[in-house]
Amino acid sequence: MQIAIDGPAGAGKSSVAREVARRLGLVYLDTGAMYRAITLKALNEGVDVNDGKMLSRLTKNCKLEVVYDDSLGNRILMDGNDITEEIRAPRVNQNVSLVAKSSEVRKELVHLQQAIAKKTGGIIMEGRDIGTNVLTDAPYKFFLSADVEERARRRWVEMKEKNVVVPFQDLLEEIAMRDRIDQEREDAPLRAAPDACVIDTTSYSFEEVVQNLLEMIRSAPRDLQKKSCSGEVR
Ligand code: DC
Repeated sequence: MQIAIDGPAGAGKSSVAREVARRLGLVYLDTGAMYRAITLKALNEGVDVNDGKMLSRLTKNCKLEVVYDDSLGNRILMDGNDITEEIRAPRVNQNVSLVAKSSEVRKELVHLQQAIAKKTGGIIMEGRDIGTNVLTDAPYKFFLSADVEERARRRWVEMKEKNVVVPFQDLLEEIAMRDRIDQEREDAPLRAAPDACVIDTTSYSFEEVVQNLLEMIRSAPRDLQKKSCSGEVR
């Protein structure tokens, strides 16, 4: 069982993927966290986030581990240290799309993601290129989107709940910029796979999106592909 979930920042992929994995008893992998981990290490070591060669060396020489926990989601370990919280820092947000542009970094991380998928009985993997590049044979592929204002609003609320208050306009601009970099990069840009089910979550609740995915996963994969499911969340 392999399920690919892609989409832009703030579309609700992580929380939806985690909940669907929990309800189906599958492992969940947040691949964005892996790009974030490399970004944090580069920033801490003063490596230029635009220098592909240096980033490649750094990626090959580090020990990146993702520990799956049913209740906590993914814990990220870098060289033995738990960096799960640190990879969400604003300085990582601002630089991660640049690191994710590097083909060398992508090659290493995609390899690791595919190896993790092979080891598991069933996995839900979430990111930007899972359906198009990492798990191309996955029988279930979803692309979650939402308009950019709504995605920024969700992120703002999420951050406020953690007592981090940032100006809404700054957040909106940052998300729009990350979308642009992710969509325009040469290597595995953010795209819906041709056989993915595209769901616009703008006007749906978290539970409605989860239910909709579960319903489609329980139906045959070929039904999923035939269905034109844009905006069909019930
Ligand atoms: O989902 P996120 O915001 O944690 O992702 C962080 C960055 O990593 C984002 O700019 C896109 C990039 N990314 C990617 O290029 N490919 C993936 N499979 C996952 C994330």
